[in-house]
Amino acid sequence: MTSAQPRVAVIGAGPSGLYAAAALLASAADTGVSVDVIDRLPAPYGLVRYGVAPDHVKMKSVIRVLQKPFDPAEVHFLGNVPVGREDGGLPLDVLREHYHAVVHATGSSVDRALGVPGEDLVGSVGSGQVVSWYSGHPDHLGSAPPLDHPGVAVVGAGNVALDVARVLAKTADEMAATDIPDNVLAVLRGSAVRDVHILIRRGPQHVKFTPAELRQIGDLAHADVIVHDDDLLAGEGPDRSGIDDRRQHQNLDMLTAWAAADIEEGRPRRIHLRFLRSPVRILGTDGRVSGLVIERNEVVDGRVRGTGEEETLDVGLVVRAIGYSAEPIPGLPFDEASGTVPNEGGRVMRDGEPVVGSYVTGWIKRGPSGVIGTNKGDAIETVEKLLEDLPNLPDPKAPGREDLLASLAAHGVEPVDWTDWLRLDAEEVRLGGVRGGADRVKVAELAAMLAACRGA
Ligand SMILES: Cc1cc2nc3c(=O)[nH]c(=O)nc-3n(C[C@H](O)[C@H](O)[C@H](O)COP(=O)(O)OP(=O)(O)OC[C@H]3O[C@@H](n4cnc5c(N)ncnc54)[C@H](O)[C@@H]3O)c2cc1C
Ligand SMILES: NC(=O)c1ccc[n+]([C@@H]2O[C@H](COP(=O)([O-])OP(=O)(O)OC[C@H]3O[C@@H](n4cnc5c(N)ncnc54)[C@H](OP(=O)(O)O)[C@@H]3O)[C@@H](O)[C@H]2O)c1
Repeated sequence: MTSAQPRVAVIGAGPSGLYAAAALLASAADTGVSVDVIDRLPAPYGLVRYGVAPDHVKMKSVIRVLQKPFDPAEVHFLGNVPVGREDGGLPLDVLREHYHAVVHATGSSVDRALGVPGEDLVGSVGSGQVVSWYSGHPDHLGSAPPLDHPGVAVVGAGNVALDVARVLAKTADEMAATDIPDNVLAVLRGSAVRDVHILIRRGPQHVKFTPAELRQIGDLAHADVIVHDDDLLAGEGPDRSGIDDRRQHQNLDMLTAWAAADIEEGRPRRIHLRFLRSPVRILGTDGRVSGLVIERNEVVDGRVRGTGEEETLDVGLVVRAIGYSAEPIPGLPFDEASGTVPNEGGRVMRDGEPVVGSYVTGWIKRGPSGVIGTNKGDAIETVEKLLEDLPNLPDPKAPGREDLLASLAAHGVEPVDWTDWLRLDAEEVRLGGVRGGADRVKVAELAAMLAACRGA
């Protein structure tokens, strides 16, 4: 039974973790709970910082909402604290000695594989790697994809595929007004990319794009959109009788109009939308991608199957944007198929029983889908379960803050706090002014991030 002041750790300072922290804080007047938010990076915000495309500046303003729990310093931030990772940091069982409950909000950062020959070639990459690179994630400083060939294939029909295609189709001058680090801008300046092929395994009525994101590729100043629809969009387009999602109708309206119009206006770059196409083999020369064999599909009874009709795309880079999986958390159950931690409403479950004091929220709970706002209701559900359990959770061995700091020091972990992060934040804003026209420029190297945090 809980007798000490209840202490909760939220691991992961992305949207789901920060919505969970806010929901816990909202209960504090009744529960007296104290909350620490822990992230392996010195910077908070997860995929808002390292996923949301750099040119989606408005979307990033959600940070103003997400940061609220830290503002009057009611919730503590412990950045630069990896938890439960084999490459160092604080073991999860040690962390557990300090808290009544732990909410895991570590997201899904592993790129799913296509499972086709040639996937290991240089120039065959996951969207996570490309996005992390252009977003200045410290793990991906040296992960620049090869952009020295005019052709690129992006596999997938979700918003991430659109993000990657759009960023690669924009000019470096267009991207200079964003927060991308200088080294990324330099690579984009030297880009030879001209044709970006988005490969969609099903038909136009099945895309997972949202209309606002699809519209953006049609509005690009320096790239044409070319719809290769094999007459799928001729006339009225595909049968819409079973479609009740307004967004799908909007997508189809846009795609049908693009297919009907001759919108190839001679812009220097082109985004090709290719429906009913799947990659079957990535071709290589001297260990790097030199082409992609794709197969035409048909959809029978809702299932995609290849027709055997193949063609080869002249590409030097293949980006798969086909979804993510989470990294298993040592000591917790993990479902490989869904890439999530088994749970009921956020309570972690093993063999049908709750794992006492362990909760999940966000992508690690429900899988890699949903926009930032989706994580709010998800986090509230998890916190409700936690608060139901809280009075009966056993007191931890070492609930004092000094105990936690001693454990971190014993494991060679030097945390940064919210004030430290604000110093890095200010430095990035300063660098934006130095570049000119950008609100901020990311500091990407971990040592430089830490130096800025410490005011060095
Ligand atoms: C490329 C991309 C672009 C997107 N763009 C948009 C968009 O424009 N608009 C929109 O609404 N949604 C967008 N989304 C979806 C949105 O980002 C997600 O819904 C949301 O970020 C999921 O939140 P999360 O907290 O579960 O995970 P994440 O945001 O991934 O946060 C996880 C956090 O956990 C930390 N962490 C991981 N492992 C550890 C560890 N072992 N120890 C300590 N900390 C750890 C990470 O550093 C990270 O800060 C995008 C997603 C992707 C992939
Ligand atoms: N601006 C924004 O709001 C924004 C930006 C980025 C991401 N997000 C959100 O973040 C979440 C994740 O986005 P996402 O794009 O990674 O996922 P997603 O929306 O689930 O799209 C994944 C795509 O990959 C395809 N796919 C899966 N396996 C494949 C395979 N083996 N071969 C070919 N194609 C395959 C899927 O096709 P099928 O449909 O046929 O399965 C689907 O089109 C989504 O909820 C998204 O809306 C939002």
